[in-house]
Amino acid sequence: MYRRQFLGSAAAVGLLPGVGLARTAPQVLRAAPHRQQILPAEYPDTELWSFDATFPGRILRATQGDRVSIEVENQLPQATAVHWHGLRLDNAMDGVPGLTQAPIAPGDRFAYEFTLPDAGTYWYHSHAQSMEQVERGLYGPLIIDETEPPDVDQDLVLVLDDIRLERDGSVSGFDNFHDLSHAGRIGNLWLSNGQIDPGYPVKRGERLRLRLISAANARVFTLGLQGFEGWVVALDGMPLAAPEPLGEELTLAPAQRMDLIVDVTTDDEEAFLITFERDGGYAITHFPVGGPSRARRDAPSALPPNPEFPIDLANARTATLLVEGGAMGGMRAAEVDGERLVARELAGRGLFWALNGIAGRPETPLLDLSRGESVRVGMANDTAFPHAMHLHGMHFAEVLPDGSLGPLRDTILLNPQETREIAFQAHNPGNWLFHCHMLAHHQAGMGTWIRVS
Ligand code: C2O
Ligand code: CU
Repeated sequence: MYRRQFLGSAAAVGLLPGVGLARTAPQVLRAAPHRQQILPAEYPDTELWSFDATFPGRILRATQGDRVSIEVENQLPQATAVHWHGLRLDNAMDGVPGLTQAPIAPGDRFAYEFTLPDAGTYWYHSHAQSMEQVERGLYGPLIIDETEPPDVDQDLVLVLDDIRLERDGSVSGFDNFHDLSHAGRIGNLWLSNGQIDPGYPVKRGERLRLRLISAANARVFTLGLQGFEGWVVALDGMPLAAPEPLGEELTLAPAQRMDLIVDVTTDDEEAFLITFERDGGYAITHFPVGGPSRARRDAPSALPPNPEFPIDLANARTATLLVEGGAMGGMRAAEVDGERLVARELAGRGLFWALNGIAGRPETPLLDLSRGESVRVGMANDTAFPHAMHLHGMHFAEVLPDGSLGPLRDTILLNPQETREIAFQAHNPGNWLFHCHMLAHHQAGMGTWIRVS
Protein backbone atom coordinates (compact mmCIF):
# COMPACT_ATOMS: atom_id res chain seq x y z
CA MET A 1 0.00 0.00 0.00
CA TYR A 2 1.42 3.34 -0.97
CA ARG A 3 1.20 6.45 1.14
CA ARG A 4 -0.84 9.34 -0.01
CA GLN A 5 0.51 12.86 -0.32
CA PHE A 6 -1.95 14.08 2.30
CA LEU A 7 -3.70 12.26 5.10
CA GLY A 8 -7.02 10.83 4.10
CA SER A 9 -8.08 10.20 0.59
CA ALA A 10 -9.76 12.56 -1.79
CA ALA A 11 -13.40 11.75 -2.40
CA ALA A 12 -13.99 9.51 -5.36
CA VAL A 13 -15.07 11.49 -8.33
CA GLY A 14 -16.62 10.61 -11.62
CA LEU A 15 -15.08 10.85 -15.04
CA LEU A 16 -14.44 14.25 -16.47
CA PRO A 17 -17.29 15.07 -18.76
CA GLY A 18 -16.46 14.63 -22.42
CA VAL A 19 -17.97 17.07 -24.84
CA GLY A 20 -18.40 16.06 -28.44
CA LEU A 21 -17.13 18.47 -31.05
CA ALA A 22 -19.87 18.95 -33.57
CA ARG A 23 -18.78 19.00 -37.16
CA THR A 24 -20.40 22.33 -37.89
CA ALA A 25 -21.46 24.17 -34.74
CA PRO A 26 -18.44 26.17 -33.59
CA GLN A 27 -17.85 26.13 -29.90
CA VAL A 28 -16.28 28.68 -27.65
CA LEU A 29 -13.44 27.96 -25.28
CA ARG A 30 -13.11 30.76 -22.78
CA ALA A 31 -9.75 31.38 -21.12
CA ALA A 32 -10.26 33.21 -17.84
CA PRO A 33 -9.24 33.30 -14.18
CA HIS A 34 -11.11 30.77 -12.09
CA ARG A 35 -10.97 29.58 -8.48
CA GLN A 36 -10.84 25.91 -7.60
CA GLN A 37 -10.09 23.89 -4.49
CA ILE A 38 -6.81 22.09 -5.18
CA LEU A 39 -5.40 21.64 -1.67
CA PRO A 40 -7.39 19.59 0.87
CA ALA A 41 -10.53 21.32 2.18
CA GLU A 42 -8.87 22.77 5.28
CA TYR A 43 -6.61 24.90 3.05
CA PRO A 44 -7.64 27.92 0.95
CA ASP A 45 -8.62 27.47 -2.68
CA THR A 46 -6.41 28.44 -5.65
CA GLU A 47 -6.76 31.09 -8.28
CA LEU A 48 -6.07 29.38 -11.59
CA TRP A 49 -6.38 30.38 -15.21
CA SER A 50 -8.40 27.84 -17.07
CA PHE A 51 -10.56 27.05 -20.06
CA ASP A 52 -14.31 27.24 -19.42
CA ALA A 53 -13.87 27.42 -15.65
CA THR A 54 -12.72 23.82 -15.30
CA PHE A 55 -9.27 22.57 -14.46
CA PRO A 56 -8.02 20.70 -16.37
CA GLY A 57 -10.05 22.00 -19.30
CA ARG A 58 -12.90 19.72 -20.33
CA ILE A 59 -12.19 16.80 -22.61
CA LEU A 60 -12.57 17.94 -26.19
CA ARG A 61 -13.61 14.86 -28.09
CA ALA A 62 -14.17 14.17 -31.76
CA THR A 63 -13.86 11.34 -34.24
CA GLN A 64 -11.00 10.82 -36.67
CA GLY A 65 -11.69 12.66 -39.91
CA ASP A 66 -13.96 15.30 -38.32
CA ARG A 67 -13.52 18.96 -39.01
CA VAL A 68 -13.85 21.05 -35.87
CA SER A 69 -14.11 24.70 -35.12
CA ILE A 70 -13.26 26.17 -31.76
CA GLU A 71 -13.28 29.84 -30.97
CA VAL A 72 -10.95 30.88 -28.17
CA GLU A 73 -12.05 33.87 -26.17
CA ASN A 74 -9.37 35.54 -24.08
CA GLN A 75 -10.55 36.90 -20.73
CA LEU A 76 -7.07 36.69 -19.20
CA PRO A 77 -4.90 39.62 -18.13
CA GLN A 78 -2.30 38.46 -20.72
CA ALA A 79 -2.30 37.69 -24.44
CA THR A 80 -2.66 34.01 -25.24
CA ALA A 81 -2.91 31.42 -28.06
CA VAL A 82 -3.88 27.75 -28.05
CA HIS A 83 -1.74 24.93 -29.42
CA TRP A 84 -3.29 21.55 -30.26
CA HIS A 85 -0.36 19.45 -29.21
CA GLY A 86 0.46 16.53 -31.50
CA LEU A 87 -2.14 17.21 -34.17
CA ARG A 88 -0.84 17.17 -37.74
CA LEU A 89 -3.02 20.11 -38.67
CA ASP A 90 -2.93 23.18 -40.88
CA ASN A 91 0.02 25.37 -39.95
CA ALA A 92 -2.13 28.50 -39.56
CA MET A 93 -4.09 26.76 -36.77
CA ASP A 94 -1.02 25.65 -34.78
CA GLY A 95 -1.32 28.40 -32.17
CA VAL A 96 2.23 29.73 -31.96
CA PRO A 97 2.30 33.50 -31.44
CA GLY A 98 4.80 35.23 -33.69
CA LEU A 99 5.18 32.18 -35.94
CA THR A 100 1.71 31.07 -37.03
CA GLN A 101 -0.58 33.77 -35.66
CA ALA A 102 -0.71 37.03 -33.74
CA PRO A 103 -1.28 36.54 -30.02
CA ILE A 104 -4.93 36.83 -28.93
CA ALA A 105 -5.02 40.05 -26.91
CA PRO A 106 -7.09 40.27 -23.73
CA GLY A 107 -10.72 40.75 -24.76
CA ASP A 108 -10.14 39.29 -28.25
CA ARG A 109 -11.13 36.04 -29.91
CA PHE A 110 -9.53 33.72 -32.44
CA ALA A 111 -11.33 31.04 -34.43
CA TYR A 112 -9.44 27.78 -34.87
CA GLU A 113 -10.75 25.42 -37.50
CA PHE A 114 -9.06 22.23 -38.61
CA THR A 115 -9.49 18.66 -39.76
CA LEU A 116 -8.41 15.72 -37.61
CA PRO A 117 -6.39 13.26 -39.69
CA ASP A 118 -5.32 11.09 -36.76
CA ALA A 119 -7.03 9.22 -33.96
CA GLY A 120 -5.42 9.18 -30.53
CA THR A 121 -4.64 11.00 -27.31
CA TYR A 122 -3.62 14.65 -27.67
CA TRP A 123 -3.95 17.77 -25.58
CA TYR A 124 -4.48 21.47 -25.95
CA HIS A 125 -2.63 24.13 -24.03
CA SER A 126 -1.69 27.76 -24.05
CA HIS A 127 1.37 28.53 -26.16
CA ALA A 128 1.90 32.09 -24.93
CA GLN A 129 4.06 32.64 -21.87
CA SER A 130 3.45 28.96 -21.48
CA MET A 131 5.67 28.44 -18.44
CA GLU A 132 3.19 30.59 -16.56
CA GLN A 133 -0.04 29.98 -18.48
CA VAL A 134 0.19 26.17 -18.55
CA GLU A 135 1.22 26.10 -14.89
CA ARG A 136 -1.80 28.25 -13.98
CA GLY A 137 -4.07 25.69 -15.61
CA LEU A 138 -4.55 26.48 -19.29
CA TYR A 139 -4.60 22.94 -20.63
CA GLY A 140 -6.98 20.08 -21.31
CA PRO A 141 -7.26 16.70 -23.09
CA LEU A 142 -8.07 16.38 -26.75
CA ILE A 143 -9.28 12.89 -27.61
CA ILE A 144 -9.78 11.75 -31.17
CA ASP A 145 -11.69 8.49 -31.32
CA GLU A 146 -10.98 5.79 -33.85
CA THR A 147 -13.96 5.14 -36.10
CA GLU A 148 -13.87 1.65 -34.56
CA PRO A 149 -12.49 2.03 -31.04
CA PRO A 150 -11.04 -1.01 -29.24
CA ASP A 151 -13.31 -3.06 -27.02
CA VAL A 152 -12.80 -1.84 -23.43
CA ASP A 153 -15.11 -1.41 -20.42
CA GLN A 154 -13.88 2.08 -19.56
CA ASP A 155 -11.94 4.74 -21.42
CA LEU A 156 -10.32 6.92 -18.80
CA VAL A 157 -8.24 10.05 -19.35
CA LEU A 158 -5.68 10.94 -16.66
CA VAL A 159 -3.94 14.28 -17.11
CA LEU A 160 -0.94 14.31 -14.81
CA ASP A 161 0.72 17.46 -13.55
CA ASP A 162 2.84 18.76 -10.75
CA ILE A 163 1.93 22.23 -9.65
CA ARG A 164 3.88 24.54 -7.35
CA LEU A 165 1.57 25.99 -4.72
CA GLU A 166 2.09 28.05 -1.58
CA ARG A 167 0.46 27.11 1.72
CA ASP A 168 -2.10 29.88 1.17
CA GLY A 169 -3.24 28.04 -1.95
CA SER A 170 -1.77 30.52 -4.42
CA VAL A 171 0.32 29.47 -7.42
CA SER A 172 3.96 30.28 -6.59
CA GLY A 173 5.50 33.22 -8.46
CA PHE A 174 7.24 32.96 -11.82
CA ASP A 175 10.14 35.33 -11.33
CA ASN A 176 12.64 32.57 -10.70
CA PHE A 177 16.03 32.42 -12.38
CA HIS A 178 16.72 29.07 -10.78
CA ASP A 179 13.87 27.47 -12.75
CA LEU A 180 15.08 29.04 -15.98
CA SER A 181 18.66 27.87 -15.59
CA HIS A 182 18.19 24.46 -13.90
CA ALA A 183 15.63 21.66 -14.38
CA GLY A 184 12.68 23.97 -15.03
CA ARG A 185 9.66 24.59 -12.87
CA ILE A 186 9.26 21.46 -10.76
CA GLY A 187 6.08 21.42 -8.69
CA ASN A 188 5.49 20.43 -5.08
CA LEU A 189 2.16 18.68 -5.53
CA TRP A 190 1.23 15.83 -7.89
CA LEU A 191 -2.16 16.18 -9.56
CA SER A 192 -4.22 13.76 -11.58
CA ASN A 193 -7.09 15.45 -13.44
CA GLY A 194 -6.50 18.48 -11.24
CA GLN A 195 -6.94 16.55 -8.01
CA ILE A 196 -4.78 15.01 -5.34
CA ASP A 197 -5.13 11.25 -5.68
CA PRO A 198 -8.61 11.02 -7.20
CA GLY A 199 -10.40 7.66 -7.20
CA TYR A 200 -12.06 5.94 -10.15
CA PRO A 201 -14.09 2.80 -9.38
CA VAL A 202 -13.30 -0.30 -11.44
CA LYS A 203 -14.47 -3.90 -11.42
CA ARG A 204 -12.25 -6.92 -11.07
CA GLY A 205 -11.40 -8.28 -14.51
CA GLU A 206 -12.50 -5.11 -16.27
CA ARG A 207 -10.50 -3.86 -19.22
CA LEU A 208 -9.59 -0.17 -19.23
CA ARG A 209 -8.07 2.09 -21.79
CA LEU A 210 -5.96 4.51 -19.75
CA ARG A 211 -4.85 7.63 -21.54
CA LEU A 212 -1.98 9.23 -19.65
CA ILE A 213 -1.13 12.81 -20.56
CA SER A 214 1.66 14.80 -18.94
CA ALA A 215 0.89 18.48 -18.56
CA ALA A 216 3.87 18.98 -16.24
CA ASN A 217 6.05 22.03 -16.79
CA ALA A 218 9.30 20.12 -16.36
CA ARG A 219 9.00 17.00 -14.25
CA VAL A 220 9.76 13.67 -15.90
CA PHE A 221 7.30 11.23 -14.34
CA THR A 222 8.38 7.72 -13.47
CA LEU A 223 5.12 5.83 -13.11
CA GLY A 224 3.95 2.38 -12.21
CA LEU A 225 0.65 0.56 -12.08
CA GLN A 226 -0.24 -1.75 -9.22
CA GLY A 227 -3.16 -4.15 -9.54
CA PHE A 228 -3.25 -4.09 -13.32
CA GLU A 229 -1.69 -6.05 -16.12
CA GLY A 230 -1.64 -4.83 -19.63
CA TRP A 231 -0.03 -3.25 -22.63
CA VAL A 232 1.14 0.03 -24.05
CA VAL A 233 -0.81 0.53 -27.27
CA ALA A 234 0.09 4.07 -28.36
CA LEU A 235 2.67 6.79 -27.72
CA ASP A 236 2.01 10.48 -28.31
CA GLY A 237 -1.25 9.55 -30.01
CA MET A 238 0.29 7.15 -32.51
CA PRO A 239 -0.56 3.43 -32.32
CA LEU A 240 2.32 1.01 -31.78
CA ALA A 241 2.62 -1.62 -34.49
CA ALA A 242 2.05 -4.24 -31.79
CA PRO A 243 0.90 -3.78 -28.16
CA GLU A 244 3.85 -3.93 -25.79
CA PRO A 245 3.49 -5.62 -22.40
CA LEU A 246 3.71 -3.14 -19.52
CA GLY A 247 7.05 -2.95 -17.77
CA GLU A 248 7.65 -2.10 -14.11
CA GLU A 249 8.21 1.58 -14.81
CA LEU A 250 6.83 3.97 -17.35
CA THR A 251 8.63 7.20 -18.20
CA LEU A 252 6.44 10.12 -19.17
CA ALA A 253 8.27 13.33 -20.05
CA PRO A 254 6.50 16.71 -20.25
CA ALA A 255 3.88 16.77 -23.05
CA GLN A 256 4.16 13.05 -23.78
CA ARG A 257 1.15 10.75 -23.85
CA MET A 258 0.78 7.03 -23.43
CA ASP A 259 -2.28 4.91 -24.14
CA LEU A 260 -2.52 1.72 -22.14
CA ILE A 261 -4.96 -1.14 -22.29
CA VAL A 262 -4.99 -2.78 -18.87
CA ASP A 263 -7.00 -5.45 -17.07
CA VAL A 264 -7.83 -5.18 -13.37
CA THR A 265 -6.09 -8.28 -12.03
CA THR A 266 -5.67 -7.55 -8.32
CA ASP A 267 -7.44 -9.44 -5.53
CA ASP A 268 -7.06 -6.35 -3.31
CA GLU A 269 -9.67 -3.70 -2.80
CA GLU A 270 -7.72 -0.99 -4.56
CA ALA A 271 -5.43 -0.63 -7.53
CA PHE A 272 -3.07 2.31 -7.99
CA LEU A 273 -1.20 4.58 -10.35
CA ILE A 274 2.02 5.34 -8.57
CA THR A 275 4.75 7.87 -9.06
CA PHE A 276 8.19 6.63 -8.06
CA GLU A 277 9.92 9.99 -7.86
CA ARG A 278 9.71 10.40 -4.11
CA ASP A 279 10.27 8.24 -1.05
CA GLY A 280 9.73 4.95 -2.81
CA GLY A 281 6.38 5.80 -4.37
CA TYR A 282 3.12 7.66 -3.91
CA ALA A 283 -0.30 6.83 -5.25
CA ILE A 284 -1.40 9.67 -7.50
CA THR A 285 -4.63 7.97 -8.58
CA HIS A 286 -6.44 5.08 -6.94
CA PHE A 287 -9.03 2.68 -8.28
CA PRO A 288 -11.45 1.12 -5.75
CA VAL A 289 -12.06 -2.42 -7.00
CA GLY A 290 -15.57 -3.88 -6.96
CA GLY A 291 -16.93 -7.21 -8.16
CA PRO A 292 -18.06 -9.31 -9.79
CA SER A 293 -15.01 -10.52 -11.58
CA ARG A 294 -14.94 -11.09 -15.29
CA ALA A 295 -13.10 -13.76 -17.17
CA ARG A 296 -9.67 -12.91 -18.50
CA ARG A 297 -9.68 -11.80 -22.11
CA ASP A 298 -7.17 -12.27 -24.89
CA ALA A 299 -4.49 -9.69 -25.53
CA PRO A 300 -5.79 -6.72 -27.50
CA SER A 301 -4.80 -6.25 -31.09
CA ALA A 302 -2.97 -3.14 -32.27
CA LEU A 303 -4.98 0.05 -32.73
CA PRO A 304 -5.70 0.87 -36.37
CA PRO A 305 -2.77 2.82 -37.85
CA ASN A 306 -3.05 6.54 -38.61
CA PRO A 307 -2.10 7.82 -42.10
CA GLU A 308 1.55 7.00 -42.77
CA PHE A 309 4.26 9.23 -44.18
CA PRO A 310 7.15 6.83 -44.79
CA ILE A 311 10.65 7.99 -43.94
CA ASP A 312 13.29 7.48 -46.60
CA LEU A 313 16.31 7.02 -44.33
CA ALA A 314 18.74 6.18 -47.11
CA ASN A 315 18.13 9.44 -48.98
CA ALA A 316 17.38 11.63 -45.98
CA ARG A 317 19.00 15.01 -45.50
CA THR A 318 20.99 15.13 -42.25
CA ALA A 319 21.29 17.85 -39.65
CA THR A 320 22.59 18.16 -36.14
CA LEU A 321 21.27 19.93 -33.10
CA LEU A 322 23.57 20.78 -30.23
CA VAL A 323 21.81 21.52 -26.96
CA GLU A 324 23.89 23.69 -24.66
CA GLY A 325 23.61 25.84 -21.57
CA GLY A 326 22.09 25.79 -18.11
CA ALA A 327 23.71 25.68 -14.72
CA MET A 328 26.79 23.42 -14.60
CA GLY A 329 26.97 23.56 -18.39
CA GLY A 330 29.93 25.00 -20.24
CA MET A 331 28.20 27.51 -22.51
CA ARG A 332 30.20 30.75 -22.62
CA ALA A 333 28.34 32.67 -25.28
CA ALA A 334 25.47 32.44 -27.75
CA GLU A 335 23.91 34.43 -30.53
CA VAL A 336 20.71 36.43 -29.96
CA ASP A 337 19.09 38.28 -32.87
CA GLY A 338 22.38 38.10 -34.76
CA GLU A 339 24.40 39.49 -31.85
CA ARG A 340 26.94 37.45 -29.90
CA LEU A 341 26.44 37.70 -26.13
CA VAL A 342 28.48 36.20 -23.31
CA ALA A 343 26.78 34.12 -20.63
CA ARG A 344 26.44 37.03 -18.19
CA GLU A 345 24.73 39.17 -20.81
CA LEU A 346 22.48 36.28 -21.79
CA ALA A 347 21.47 35.78 -18.15
CA GLY A 348 20.63 39.49 -17.98
CA ARG A 349 18.03 38.82 -20.68
CA GLY A 350 16.75 35.67 -18.97
CA LEU A 351 18.44 33.41 -21.54
CA PHE A 352 20.31 30.32 -20.40
CA TRP A 353 20.09 27.78 -23.24
CA ALA A 354 21.07 27.61 -26.88
CA LEU A 355 20.39 25.34 -29.85
CA ASN A 356 23.30 25.26 -32.28
CA GLY A 357 24.74 28.35 -30.59
CA ILE A 358 21.57 30.43 -30.87
CA ALA A 359 19.47 31.44 -27.87
CA GLY A 360 15.80 32.09 -28.59
CA ARG A 361 13.87 31.51 -31.80
CA PRO A 362 16.10 32.54 -34.72
CA GLU A 363 15.09 34.61 -37.74
CA THR A 364 15.95 31.78 -40.13
CA PRO A 365 14.79 28.20 -39.65
CA LEU A 366 17.03 25.38 -38.47
CA LEU A 367 15.97 23.55 -41.63
CA ASP A 368 14.34 24.60 -44.86
CA LEU A 369 12.76 21.45 -46.27
CA SER A 370 10.86 20.60 -49.38
CA ARG A 371 7.57 18.88 -48.88
CA GLY A 372 7.97 15.13 -49.00
CA GLU A 373 11.68 15.23 -48.20
CA SER A 374 13.01 13.01 -45.40
CA VAL A 375 15.42 14.36 -42.82
CA ARG A 376 17.38 12.95 -39.90
CA VAL A 377 18.41 15.16 -37.01
CA GLY A 378 21.12 14.03 -34.63
CA MET A 379 20.64 15.69 -31.25
CA ALA A 380 23.32 15.97 -28.59
CA ASN A 381 22.47 17.10 -25.07
CA ASP A 382 25.61 18.75 -23.74
CA THR A 383 23.92 19.94 -20.54
CA ALA A 384 23.37 18.66 -17.01
CA PHE A 385 19.57 18.45 -17.40
CA PRO A 386 17.01 16.38 -19.29
CA HIS A 387 15.10 18.00 -22.16
CA ALA A 388 11.85 16.96 -23.83
CA MET A 389 12.23 18.01 -27.45
CA HIS A 390 8.93 18.56 -29.25
CA LEU A 391 8.36 19.04 -32.97
CA HIS A 392 5.11 20.66 -34.06
CA GLY A 393 3.04 19.50 -37.00
CA MET A 394 4.71 16.17 -37.77
CA HIS A 395 5.61 13.04 -35.84
CA PHE A 396 9.13 11.65 -36.00
CA ALA A 397 10.71 8.29 -35.27
CA GLU A 398 13.91 7.68 -33.40
CA VAL A 399 16.70 6.14 -35.47
CA LEU A 400 17.77 3.34 -33.13
CA PRO A 401 21.40 2.28 -32.76
CA ASP A 402 20.83 -0.75 -35.04
CA GLY A 403 19.57 1.58 -37.78
CA SER A 404 15.90 0.67 -37.44
CA LEU A 405 13.16 3.17 -36.66
CA GLY A 406 11.44 3.36 -33.28
CA PRO A 407 7.78 4.28 -32.75
CA LEU A 408 6.39 7.60 -33.95
CA ARG A 409 6.45 10.37 -31.34
CA ASP A 410 6.06 14.12 -31.14
CA THR A 411 8.17 14.59 -28.02
CA ILE A 412 11.40 12.79 -27.12
CA LEU A 413 13.33 12.81 -23.87
CA LEU A 414 17.02 13.61 -24.16
CA ASN A 415 18.79 12.81 -20.94
CA PRO A 416 21.92 14.67 -19.80
CA GLN A 417 24.88 13.98 -22.10
CA GLU A 418 22.74 11.75 -24.27
CA THR A 419 22.80 11.68 -28.08
CA ARG A 420 19.75 10.61 -30.07
CA GLU A 421 18.78 10.78 -33.68
CA ILE A 422 15.27 11.36 -35.00
CA ALA A 423 13.94 11.18 -38.56
CA PHE A 424 10.74 12.27 -40.25
CA GLN A 425 9.19 12.97 -43.58
CA ALA A 426 8.47 16.68 -44.04
CA HIS A 427 4.92 16.06 -45.20
CA ASN A 428 3.16 19.04 -43.64
CA PRO A 429 3.87 22.48 -45.14
CA GLY A 430 4.38 25.48 -42.89
CA ASN A 431 6.56 26.95 -40.16
CA TRP A 432 6.87 24.48 -37.32
CA LEU A 433 8.32 25.10 -33.91
CA PHE A 434 10.90 22.66 -32.52
CA HIS A 435 11.57 23.28 -28.84
CA CYS A 436 12.12 21.95 -25.38
CA HIS A 437 8.85 21.27 -23.56
CA MET A 438 10.43 22.00 -20.22
CA LEU A 439 8.61 25.29 -20.49
CA ALA A 440 11.14 27.32 -18.51
CA HIS A 441 13.85 26.11 -20.90
CA HIS A 442 11.81 27.18 -23.90
CA GLN A 443 11.31 30.61 -22.36
CA ALA A 444 15.05 30.80 -21.61
CA GLY A 445 16.18 30.13 -25.17
CA MET A 446 15.55 26.48 -26.19
CA GLY A 447 13.44 26.97 -29.25
CA THR A 448 14.01 26.89 -32.98
CA TRP A 449 11.82 26.13 -36.00
CA ILE A 450 11.76 24.41 -39.36
CA ARG A 451 10.12 25.39 -42.61
CA VAL A 452 8.45 22.98 -44.99
CA SER A 453 7.46 24.31 -48.37
CU1 C2O B 1 2.95 21.34 -26.40
CU2 C2O B 1 5.19 23.90 -28.59
O1 C2O B 1 4.00 22.64 -27.47
CU1 CU C 1 14.96 21.64 -21.75
